[in-house]
Amino acid sequence: MDWRGKNVVVTGGAGFLGSHLCDRLKAEGCEPFVPRSARYDLRYPSGVSEMFLDAGPVDVLFHLAAVVGGIGLNKESPGTLFYENAVMGIQLVEQARLNGVEKFVQVGTVCAYPRAEYKQREEALWSGYPDPTNAPYGLAKKMLLVQLQAYREQYGMNGIYLLPTNLYGPRDNFDLETSHVVPALVRKCVEARERGEDHIVVWGTGKPSRDFLYVEDAAEGLVLAAERYDRPEPLNLGSGQEVRIDALVHYVQGATGFEGGVKWDTSRPDGQPRRVLDSSRAKAAIGWEARTPLLEGLRKTVQWYGEHR
Ligand SMILES: NC(=O)c1ccc[n+]([C@@H]2O[C@H](COP(=O)([O-])OP(=O)(O)OC[C@H]3O[C@@H](n4cnc5c(N)ncnc54)[C@H](OP(=O)(O)O)[C@@H]3O)[C@@H](O)[C@H]2O)c1
Repeated sequence: MDWRGKNVVVTGGAGFLGSHLCDRLKAEGCEPFVPRSARYDLRYPSGVSEMFLDAGPVDVLFHLAAVVGGIGLNKESPGTLFYENAVMGIQLVEQARLNGVEKFVQVGTVCAYPRAEYKQREEALWSGYPDPTNAPYGLAKKMLLVQLQAYREQYGMNGIYLLPTNLYGPRDNFDLETSHVVPALVRKCVEARERGEDHIVVWGTGKPSRDFLYVEDAAEGLVLAAERYDRPEPLNLGSGQEVRIDALVHYVQGATGFEGGVKWDTSRPDGQPRRVLDSSRAKAAIGWEARTPLLEGLRKTVQWYGEHR
């Protein structure tokens, strides 16, 4: 697919994943339209319709705009996470249909998977309820899969749905109140090293596992899926490597040079017990697989944090 001359919209294009996606599209010769929330508030129908008015006929729309955060934010604001993510997406899909968008790419989340599921495969997406720590967020986004499948059936709309796992990398959110685990650990370790502290405090028991995907690999998956995928079934985007949180802490300590210890705050929730995505469907369908080893991705993340905080 030749991206030059395509009219591409990336909602959330100034965010973490969105900025990497835009870099990739620009490298392909395309200048995406990025509707910022201050100008186009996608929670309101007027914000969505103004966006379509200003964007003109859209060839490809990537919907990434969302309210996102770690377990802390999910526990603090489950209502906001449910409402804003659902209402933005539902309106956007409907107005995309009415405006004749040729391709709609919805970015979902691994938090849609049932709590009990391990080695998450797309077939198991509906086999149970998500972990309560992130169910409102995960389910709000999961409804957009239902909407896109229904619109495909009724209107023939070309909407696809991707399920990225936990992302990390440069330009992540390093605010300890709202961040995910990797940037939180990087910040804690760097600050503890600088202050000469002998330990960091980490949420939970350290026993749960996650699948960490470097953000540039995720952006590549989004572009390949937009180019090559036109089916109702969702696609996982994960590294396929299961990493326990206590092992992750050890890796981040190495990448940041923090030599102190770890105190586990077991009064804080662990979240889903195990998580590792099976991305074989994405490999077969779009030729995508994760490329960046965790240690290399962590090194780049720490370097970026050191240069930009
Ligand atoms: N980060 C992860 O680990 C991860 C994992 C799996 C899936 N995802 C998905 O990937 C997508 C991007 O996540 P991210 O981590 O890159 O998030 P992010 O950095 O927080 O970016 C989200 C963007 O959404 C936009 N937004 C929020 N509310 C909006 C509103 N009312 N109207 C218009 N725009 C609004 C913001 O735009 P402004 O900057 O203009 O305010 C922001 O730039 C999300 O859909 C998320 O569910 C993320």
